[in-house]
Amino acid sequence: MTEQLSVDPEWYRKAVFYEVMVRSFRDTNGDGYGDLKGMIEKLDYLKWLGVDAIWLPPFFASPLRDGGYDIADYTAINPLYGSMDDFDAFLAGAHERGMRVVIDFVINHTSDQHRWFQESRSNPTGPYGDFYVWSDTDEKFENVRIIFTDTETSNWAWDEVRQQYYWHRFFSHQPDLNFENPAVHEAVFDIARFWLNKGVDGFRLDAIPYLYVSEGNTGESEPPTHTFIQSLRAMMDREFPGRMLVAEANQLPREVTDYFGSEETPECNMAFNFPVMPYIFYSLKSGDATGLTGVLADLPDVPKGAAWGVFLRNHDELTLEMVNDEERQKMYEWYAPEPRMKVNVGIRRRLAPLLDGRRDKLDLANAILLSLPGSPFLYYGDEIGMGDNIWLDDRDASRTPMQWVETPDAGFSDGDPESFYLPVVASDEYGPHAVNVAAQESDPDSVLWWTKNTLEMRKSLPALGTGSTRLLSTGSPAVLAFVREPEGPGVPVVCVFNFSESDVSATLSSVAPTGSAVVDVRTGETVCEVDDSEELRLDLPAMSWHWLTVS
Ligand code: NOJ
Ligand code: CA
Repeated sequence: MTEQLSVDPEWYRKAVFYEVMVRSFRDTNGDGYGDLKGMIEKLDYLKWLGVDAIWLPPFFASPLRDGGYDIADYTAINPLYGSMDDFDAFLAGAHERGMRVVIDFVINHTSDQHRWFQESRSNPTGPYGDFYVWSDTDEKFENVRIIFTDTETSNWAWDEVRQQYYWHRFFSHQPDLNFENPAVHEAVFDIARFWLNKGVDGFRLDAIPYLYVSEGNTGESEPPTHTFIQSLRAMMDREFPGRMLVAEANQLPREVTDYFGSEETPECNMAFNFPVMPYIFYSLKSGDATGLTGVLADLPDVPKGAAWGVFLRNHDELTLEMVNDEERQKMYEWYAPEPRMKVNVGIRRRLAPLLDGRRDKLDLANAILLSLPGSPFLYYGDEIGMGDNIWLDDRDASRTPMQWVETPDAGFSDGDPESFYLPVVASDEYGPHAVNVAAQESDPDSVLWWTKNTLEMRKSLPALGTGSTRLLSTGSPAVLAFVREPEGPGVPVVCVFNFSESDVSATLSSVAPTGSAVVDVRTGETVCEVDDSEELRLDLPAMSWHWLTVS
């Protein structure tokens, strides 16, 4: 039966997102690359899991030197993944099941294989001559940092054809578009309209802080970048109401909230919560929630109608740019004991191995993901606790084929495993014989069922989606607690997390009036009553989490 998409224009504030790269999910023609037909095959699985919106990283024509973030043609499907008809069928299939689709919009740069760049380098006075940032010297914009510190030594690269330098914030095969040129804006708007007319529900704005660069500045979050996003948002609200933008802006709290814009001049409907993410991992290892509590307390409110995108892992490294030097050093020691585990300013590992494969830690981490203000973004495979392969290059370590069944090919493909875009994880602990969807589907205690059940429980508590958040004092540095108050109907939910490896007693103050009954949502049992001083005393097992309703 065909389900209707909700008509709520703020659907993204209530949605559970799931990120999956097309090539990683399911290969239907045996060529070793996951494809759009494979995505269609697995839509029912995603629906069953409780996913509301699928985020697809780039699936466009590309030499694939940066996982597809090096785009050679924005409106062509990479033939490895199928055809435009396949994409249309995938989108229709998702919509029929009541799920939305958000795609990546990579406008800071293109591949050097893009026709625009080829024309720009060979015909400087032609229509594409100013599409990129060209210079006779590589001594401009010296305040701008390098992002891919492991591979690049400069943001300038020499072009033999044009005999000039071009600007690039990422790999040197990814020249930055020149946003000073109005023709670039038009070209970018055309691409947006192309995909919005097809019916996609939103865009992840890749690398969005870097659109503009000017002398003496950092090339990050410069004012015209915000003006451009405002114009994109205005076009979308006018021509495609109900679609959304989510910002990938790995910036400090105040700067990242600027990407929401204001009520008068809105920018993105959502922004990934980069400041909070690393502190979750810090707490999980240190047993101390102080840093996490601090960053949550410092987060400015999001404007009406906006929402955070909360995540633990994604297709990139676990970036450590938002913690201080001392914290970063500790996190490298804890989470990247092998030098191979590091990349740029981060760690290229998946969630389960980061947490030593410990189920209590995995549940605690995922519970935080589902409790924090905003909408959660799951990363494919983390719902079964998939592992990584640090012997693969760069971020490919955590982009290996999805593990559906226990066979060595993981049910990813019927083709020759030697031809797979990346090998299936083969370790004793994380190979498909140990970690796969089919086995977990038939095990009610599995991570998969935990994820499905907890997502369902979350949906029954509207406060966890769109509610406000008030931090509570807990009397213990190991314990984080906050109360989510619903925006409309629903009950407040007190969320409590004990990061300690030992049992801890916590005293939460100002939770609810004296005498209120406190019920554990997971068991349905009354835990206690709020005492005479309006305090709530709780004995928390090591590494435990609780959703409590107070009535
Ligand atoms: C951010 C993407 O998430 C990352 O995977 C990519 O390498 C860079 N942008 C450059 O496109
Ligand atoms: Ca294929």
